[in-house]
Amino acid sequence: MWTVADPTDPIRQEPRVRTDLALLAGYHSPQVDVDVRLNTNEAAQPPPQAFTADLQAALAGLTLNRYPDRGAVRLRTAIGDRYGMNVSQVFAANGSNEAIQALLLAYGGAGRTAAVFEPTYAMHSQIARITGTRVVGTARRQDFSLDEGLLGELVAAERPDVMFMCSPNNPTGLVDPDGLVLAALEMLAPHGGLLVVDEAYGQFSQSSAVDLLSEDRSLVVSRTFSKTWAMAGLRLGYLLGPTWCVTELEKVALPYHLDAIKQEAGTLALAYGEEMQKHVGTIVAERQRLSALLSELPVTVWPSQANFVLFRPETMPASRVWEGLLERSVLVRDFSSAEGLDGCLRVTIGTQSEDDRFLVALREVLS
Ligand SMILES: Cc1ncc(COP(=O)(O)O)c(C=O)c1O
Repeated sequence: MWTVADPTDPIRQEPRVRTDLALLAGYHSPQVDVDVRLNTNEAAQPPPQAFTADLQAALAGLTLNRYPDRGAVRLRTAIGDRYGMNVSQVFAANGSNEAIQALLLAYGGAGRTAAVFEPTYAMHSQIARITGTRVVGTARRQDFSLDEGLLGELVAAERPDVMFMCSPNNPTGLVDPDGLVLAALEMLAPHGGLLVVDEAYGQFSQSSAVDLLSEDRSLVVSRTFSKTWAMAGLRLGYLLGPTWCVTELEKVALPYHLDAIKQEAGTLALAYGEEMQKHVGTIVAERQRLSALLSELPVTVWPSQANFVLFRPETMPASRVWEGLLERSVLVRDFSSAEGLDGCLRVTIGTQSEDDRFLVALREVLS
């Protein structure tokens, strides 16, 4: 039987956690039960009904008493086919976060360095630190674009083993132009660094680094089924890159890390590319509508190429706005105390009616 721990008990002692981990805060995005959830950039609508029916039918045929295909070959082949790449150039994982973790296990670690450009997706540096990788960074400009000169200085000074670009960038929504990706590759090449372009929101924008991939470039692109494919609950993401890189990632992945249901779901989903594209079109149109309506309020709005919009209330502290929205059962993401994002909030594009509720609530809070 468990008893309440007695702090004076001489054998009650917590084991020593790694000192670098003890300093880490972990990932914090509150999961609160609200009417309108616009805080984690998920899809507002479920995947197509026909896909769900296909998946239900397929589940009946799965041999769950056996381990799944360790190489997830059918899924990886289907992903590769979408991009004209072959199975050996695709690494699939439990969300793109896990793909990034595999990358850092293989190319980061003790004595190695990862570079990030803040403000950006916090998990790049978080996962780097968890894997014992040193993190260095440089700030983006005031308008959140990346300064090529500063990038060059960072590469020359730190010679990072892994460098992250995030395009469209979370939480700013800005795209890093192809020219910058190529420039970064050129700067990294002499030092043997690997460039990772995180395109979790890639399909919402016109630009992508996928066309720049090749067997002789140290470039990988990560993408996810969580956003455009409306499958955040399934946890499936992938990375496209040279065969030599995927081979290394397979070494650090746990055996059978992708379960049979996920492999089936991902493969089936890819047959619904047209529906996915339609879903993206709806979100992009809704993003334009929401951005335009937001601009009529006393807030600064940043142009976004993703499924979210960053904004800064100008007449009231952001934390009070966030609380006011929550009181009205609308949840957005509060970045107001994050470095470089002073006073900023981020709202995910929802359905038209969810976004209208958000706008009504925001108008009330700001008035
Ligand atoms: C930029 C970026 N990369 C990666 C991810 C992780 O996505 P997932 O692990 O769901 O594929 C997210 C999630 O919000 C993200 O914003």
